[in-house]
This record gives sequence, C-alpha cells and structure tokens, in this order.
Amino acid sequence: MIGIQEILPIKLYRFHYEGDLDSVIDYVFELTHQQHEEWGLLNVKDPNPFSVMNIVTPDFMKRFPELFKFMLDSVHEVTEYEKWQHPEMFMSQIWTNLQRFPDQGHTRHTHPNAVWSSLFNVYGHEPNHVTIFHSGTPSGDEDAAYSQHHYTNKRFHPEAARMLQMSPEGPTDRVNFEGVTHKPGDFIVFRSFIPHSVPPFQPQNVQDMRITMSANFWPYQSGRSDRATWLRVIPDYETIPPSGMDRGTGWEDDKRIERERQELMEREGRETGTQGNTNPSE
Ligand SMILES: [Fe+2]
Repeated sequence: MIGIQEILPIKLYRFHYEGDLDSVIDYVFELTHQQHEEWGLLNVKDPNPFSVMNIVTPDFMKRFPELFKFMLDSVHEVTEYEKWQHPEMFMSQIWTNLQRFPDQGHTRHTHPNAVWSSLFNVYGHEPNHVTIFHSGTPSGDEDAAYSQHHYTNKRFHPEAARMLQMSPEGPTDRVNFEGVTHKPGDFIVFRSFIPHSVPPFQPQNVQDMRITMSANFWPYQSGRSDRATWLRVIPDYETIPPSGMDRGTGWEDDKRIERERQELMEREGRETGTQGNTNPSE
C-alpha cells in the first residue's frame, strides 16, 4: 500500500513593472537580428528550440536603468522579507528568449550558477503565459544539471523542448509540477535550485510570439567570518572566456553545428536570400 505525502511547498515572489515594454520588445528584436547574423538563430527550417540570447549586463543597466532598478529592488525586497543576513544582490546575468515557432520551449532545468533566478514577461499571452515549476532537487535531477552545461558539456537534446509533453498523466502528476501564469510586466523571483521549464510555444496567429527575460542574482557576500562561512564575491562583467576552453563534447559539437549552419546558409542563401526578417510587424 503506497503512502503519498505532499511536503515542502515552494515559494515564488511576484512583482509587476508598470513601465514601458515596447522599448524592451524593440531591444529584443535588435538582439535577435544581431544574433541571427552571427548564428542563424532564426533559420526557419532548423529553428533553435530555445532561442536564448545573452544580454551584456552593463548594456542592460545603461539602456534600461529603470527596469534594472526595478528588478534589483524586487530581489532585494525578497531577501529583506526572508531576513537574509546580507540582502544585497547583484545581477550576475541577464538574457532573453524570443520564440515564434511552434514547439519552441525550454526543458526542465535549474541555474546552479545563481542564488536567485527570475522571469520577466515582456510579451507572453494566453496560452503562452505559463512557466512550469517542478519538484525534485538538482542533485537528483540529472537532465536539469546537464541542460545548463554547468557540470558537463552534453548538448541540448533537439527534442528537449518537447519533453514535457511526454510527462505521465495521472493524479500524482500534480505533485511533480505546477503551471504558473503571468502577464506582460510580471516579474517572478525564485530560488535558482527550483527546476522549471517552459511549455512548447503555441502560436495563435502568424505574427504571434513569446518574449521573456530572465536574470540571475548572486549575493555580494554571505556567511559570517566568526563561523568560518564568510564569502565575498565581486561582479566581473569584463572577462570573456576564451573560445575553445570548454571540455568534453560541447566544443566538438559547436564545430559541427557551425559546419551544418554554414552548409544550410549556403543552400538557403542561394535559394531565397530572405533570411533574417524577424520583425512581426513586417
Ligand atoms: Fe531558467
């Protein structure tokens, strides 16, 4: 006879940004065009299943000081609420996701390089306004650790965005994950060890899209020197790791991806010459 006990509820912290989002959407389009030129991010025949684009944090601070302050103040409010000994955090990373193709999403993952993670809905409407939060721990969550390349260089599986659809159905499933809805301007802050995923994008019309931003945060300091637990961390936005430093299969995969991309661009470039038109208003 099986006994099931639901324990340890997870806390999410919600905020809402009242400022302008159109300029943020324009910014994401700019980044998309740049990254498409560099990586072929929006190849229609072989779309990137995740469409994650890095944002240089100091650039974001300069361009969107109000939004940056809102995000940092929100996280600070959380750490004050939780009575952290050292509540001051810095934004260690920020990135954006623009999805336009059916089934683009993000498999279950955590952020082991952060203490706090977050989600900002820039443009995401029903039914594409859901983030799934899962039970489980990083140590018992191998695919989550793999998928962020922290411990290995194992490549994202091309089918990874569809993994959620393969989740078993049934009453106990309620314990395993929960969908959280949000609307444009909503900012959700959560501990980075909580596994989460994004369901496959379901476009409602040909111009539909889903844009979110995510940022990670780390404390300037933690612990206590009189207990031998103190740690001081100073943000470094300048250092760029040299290419080719990654170990394992990732680097070889990167080379293979690059070769395939070149071949695809050569083929498609000759046939159409129209890649890169990503603006839904066009
Ligand atoms: Fe995430």
